[in-house]
Parts: sequence; structure tokens; C-alpha cells
Amino acid sequence: MKFSLLLSGENVDLAILEALSLAKAFGSLKSHSIDGRVLTIDFEGEEFFKRLAFSHEAIELFATCDFSELESVFSEIEIHRSFCVRVSGLSVKTDESLERKLGAILWRKGARVDLRNPEEVVRVYITPKSCYVGFLRFKQEKKQFSMRKPNLRPFFMPIVTLPKLSRAIVNLVSLKKGRVLDPMCGTGSFLIELGLLGFDFCGMDFYRDIVEGCRKNLMFMGFEAKVLQGDAKQMPFKDETFDGVVTDYPYFKATRKAPSDDLYEKSLDEIERVLKKNRRAVIVTNLDIKDFPMHLVAKVNHRVHGSLTRRIYVLKK
Ligand SMILES: C[S@@+](CC[C@H](N)C(=O)[O-])C[C@H]1O[C@@H](n2cnc3c(N)ncnc32)[C@H](O)[C@@H]1O
Repeated sequence: MKFSLLLSGENVDLAILEALSLAKAFGSLKSHSIDGRVLTIDFEGEEFFKRLAFSHEAIELFATCDFSELESVFSEIEIHRSFCVRVSGLSVKTDESLERKLGAILWRKGARVDLRNPEEVVRVYITPKSCYVGFLRFKQEKKQFSMRKPNLRPFFMPIVTLPKLSRAIVNLVSLKKGRVLDPMCGTGSFLIELGLLGFDFCGMDFYRDIVEGCRKNLMFMGFEAKVLQGDAKQMPFKDETFDGVVTDYPYFKATRKAPSDDLYEKSLDEIERVLKKNRRAVIVTNLDIKDFPMHLVAKVNHRVHGSLTRRIYVLKK
């Protein structure tokens, strides 16, 4: 079945990687194509759209066509429920008259228009290259992320990763379920997203006060406080314990000084050791890293502000 996703313009590369990682975890991805902010996937499997952070919408694709063919495509749509038509131009100007014109085609075939509470939203994305016509299957609840802003939690650190970005980063482990570790968990942003998604998670941090703060945050969110104090360079876990690892390295300028400068070398070896075979580790840092003890699947940058760009590395054992 084909779906088109309307990606957030905030970071299209991250949005693509997030959606493809989830599609692989939830079923089989036969092919995909990208047209600006529209990602089209040919996918068989369980629906995963509710997990997405960097996509605004998903439609079940009815057809792609040129602008000149839109009316004839609409004449082929059969709708037996109330409906409305919504059109968005992406780098293309459109106006409401197009929605009315396309809606009238369906109305003349006997379908009932309901602009307030339609049973079916016929959605059209128009890009300079193509038109994507389909039925709306997912719309992002944008408020869900602002409702759990980190400053509303009992424990806060300025370097905290915001919920929307944390959700996308966690999705890059490409898992439906399983046991996931954050060995440098800070305030617990990744652990909270893992908990909300139903994962069995485990957190660790070097500093006792941060461990305690993170536990408070997890309990505040209604989760078990599964966080231990430990060193990411020497983890207290057996080999191949975890289905995924996701972590955010200290930003040396912003957080306290790291315990030593062999942190990367040793902790990356440890992450590789505790990860199961063929599984992913997602590493976030402000540094450019060239050598990893695992296969590099993808790298995406996420600019936070002028002096901080997070580099997100997806690694596979
Ligand atoms: C950038 S912060 C993580 C922020 C986290 N993503 C959040 O949103 O709160 C990095 C964390 O790594 C921890 N850390 C630094 N060195 C460590 C080590 N050797 N072992 C475990 N944790 C360490 C720091 O205490 C800090 O909490």
C-alpha cells in the first residue's frame, strides 16, 4: 500500500530517516521516493504514524498526477461518507477555489460535504513536480510535545533534549519494542519517550545528583525509575543485553567537564559490546566523529542554535 507523508520543514533529512526507520521496524518497506517535503512509501505492515515526531500528516495515496490531471483523478474517486477536500501547495501557490472545485466533483457524484466534522478528508499536496491525492490517515498532535516541556518536570538541565527531537532520535533505533539503554541519560528525555512508546528502558548517568533528578522525572511521568549510577566507559551489563542504545554525549562547553577524555573511545566500545547483533545504536554529539566500532548507517545534523549543532549518528552492530 502506498502512503505519502508530509514532513516537517524543520529538518527534512531527520524526518525522512525517522519515517524510514519506523517503516522498517513495523513491516516491509518496498520502495520510497522523496519530492521536497513529501515522502512516498510503498509499505506493508502495521501502521506506525502515531509514533512520528517530524511528520505533520500521512495520507493513504490514491494517485499521483500532474496538476492538469487533478480534476480527472477526482472524477475517479468513490466516496460514500461525508467528506471535505483540503489542498496544500508546497512551494506552489494555491487558493480555496481549488478545494471548492475539486469538492464539487465528488459532491456531484452524490457524496455529502461536511467541512467541520468530515468522515473522510481528501487531501492533496501540490509540489512543483507533482500532485499527491489521498485520504488523510494521520495528523500530528502538535500539542503533545509542548504539553510535556522539560521545564515542567521536577529536574531540569539546560542541555536537555526537547521532547519532539527526543522522540525522533528514539525512533531511529528502528524497533517496535524491546529493551533500550541510555547510558548517559541526563534528565531522562530519551527514557521518557521510550516509556511513552512502551519500551523496556534502562538509564545510567555518572553523577549521583543527576541520577536522582532523572529518577524524579521518570516517576513524575508515571514510569518506574530504572536508572543507575555508573560510568559509560565501563558498563555493568552483560554482552548483548540490549535491542537498542540511544544516547546524547556531554557537550563539553555546556555541561560539566567529562571525567576523562577517553570517553568516546571507551564508551563506544562498551555500547557495541552491550548491543545485540544487527541492532542499532543512535549517538548524539556536537563532535564530528569519523571512526566507530560499528557500521555507520546514517548521519544527520540538527542545528539547535548558532553555537550548537547536534550530530546524530545511526550505527548498526
Ligand atoms: C548532554 S547530557 C544528556 C542530556 C539528556 N539527553 C537530556 O535530555 O537530559 C550528557 C550526560 O552524560 C553524562 N555523562 C558524562 N560522562 C559520563 C560517563 N562517563 N558515564 C555516564 N554518564 C556520563 C552527564 O552527566 C550528562 O548528564
